[in-house]
Amino acid sequence: MADFYVTTPIYYVNDAPHIGHAYTTTAGDVLTRWHRQRGESVWYLTGVDEHGTKVQRAAEAGGVAPQEWVDRLVTESWRPVLGTIDAANDDFIRTTEPRHQERVQRFWEVVRDNGYVYEADYEGPYCVGCEEFKLPGDLVEAEGGGPPLCPVHGRPVEMLREKNWFFRLSAFTDALIEHYERHPEAVQPASAYNEVMSFLRGGLVDISMSRSSVAWGIGLPWDEQQVVYVWFDALLNYITAIGYGADPGSEEARFFADTWPADVQLVGKDILRFHAVYWPAMLMAAGLPVPRCVFAHGWLLVGGEKMSKTRLTGIAPEQITDHFGSDAFRYYFMRAIQFGQDGSFSWEDMSARYTAELANGLGNLASRATAMVQRYRDGRLPAPGSPTDDERALQDLLAEVARAADDAVERLDFAGAIAHVRRFIDAVNLYVTEREPWVLAKDPGEAQRLDTVLYTVCEALRAVAVLYNPVMPRAMTSMWGQIGAEATLGPIGEQRLGDVARWGQLPPGTTVSKGAILFPRLEEPAE
Ligand code: ME8
Ligand code: MG
Repeated sequence: MADFYVTTPIYYVNDAPHIGHAYTTTAGDVLTRWHRQRGESVWYLTGVDEHGTKVQRAAEAGGVAPQEWVDRLVTESWRPVLGTIDAANDDFIRTTEPRHQERVQRFWEVVRDNGYVYEADYEGPYCVGCEEFKLPGDLVEAEGGGPPLCPVHGRPVEMLREKNWFFRLSAFTDALIEHYERHPEAVQPASAYNEVMSFLRGGLVDISMSRSSVAWGIGLPWDEQQVVYVWFDALLNYITAIGYGADPGSEEARFFADTWPADVQLVGKDILRFHAVYWPAMLMAAGLPVPRCVFAHGWLLVGGEKMSKTRLTGIAPEQITDHFGSDAFRYYFMRAIQFGQDGSFSWEDMSARYTAELANGLGNLASRATAMVQRYRDGRLPAPGSPTDDERALQDLLAEVARAADDAVERLDFAGAIAHVRRFIDAVNLYVTEREPWVLAKDPGEAQRLDTVLYTVCEALRAVAVLYNPVMPRAMTSMWGQIGAEATLGPIGEQRLGDVARWGQLPPGTTVSKGAILFPRLEEPAE
């Protein structure tokens, strides 16, 4: 069973991933690794959304059958991007898998038996980019007339008219309002909460749960002319992947009972309504608990608009990781954009932060520390002498920063957590500059002070490695090895955040070695 269940949206495989998708997956991964280091067992799910008109049309345009299209993109792009950004997910669900398809059918049978499904005619606008039945208030006028536009995709909506099966969404207006009044933490940040509440207070109308003019989807068990509307197929991945609908008494069924509801469901703000309104209503209709928290983050923008596959404005994650590495990618997006707000990526900003904060800030501190232990103490970590106020101040700061960083991650304030760790790194850098170990080294009478300074810096790096490991697992594993912690304290992933501020964990005598440069200086990117 999992103590903490984290999900990302499952992304459409109409095209290859861009950094917007990698952004959500990175945030989920940092959150996952942080909670693992708290000692919790975490289950981290991501995956892909393979059905619907958008994917079907992309396949047609590519001249292949939809299954072939999705198989190729998943193999060549969507699975590999997880490696590109070092995602440590536990599962990857595809909506074309039998486990998902069978359980989706079972779910809708249950909801229909519970009286929340009926047949009726749908007539109205639909955005294929969003795969969404639009309400009049959702659309913007097209300049010069013509069908109104979807504001997200900037493209005309299509008018649909078909006989569908409807989900009685309207039955859940009051229950949802009541739930969110009691649990304001269930939709975050506050701007998202307010948006959801005002949408709910406007009243919900019933919505199609099937499509008759779409072929690429999961068949309705009771009407073979129709497939499940792609969102009402896709949202169910969060439960089908963890064993909803598995045989009673099976291990999978037990895993589901122990793991659901999700603790954090990460989404972009484009799909907030699906996750904070439709999804919990579906769960209520099936008699299941609703997620503890849906967090809607902001958009990565290009020229002021949402970066998008449909608009063809995506930057591939490997364009950035090939140059800066995966750790810097993860660090930059968590550090530079306040989670919950929009932001832009720029090479200049990323290069500047990489150089200042990673190469010069942390990287330089680590290489100075290991080089000095090597030069002055033959690569053996000396035992410290008695601490002075300077060392005690650093120990106190570490305790404060570790607590503050944990509180920040609790609120999904990744930038805040990183800022706290940076405060500590800056203080350690200042300590080295002021204590001048290279001057102490020239005076045999200061040998014990030098021992204390060298020990203090390495022990501080031990703590930084643990605190930053969820964000930059590669570089921090390397630093962990260089200060001799791997050999003496065990794998970095097994270090507990609750214990990180306990001073004096690195045993004196440990072998410290100057390994690979953590954040090498970079050439300017080729234009
Ligand atoms: O909506 N900035 O899939 P999708 C930040 N299949 N995040 C972005 C982004 C951007 N510019 N672009 C995409 C779907 N994302 C459905 C979801 S879930 C049951 C079904 C991220 O391929 C962000 O998480 O359009 C956004 O919500 C998601 O990708 C949408 O991906
Ligand atoms: Mg989209």
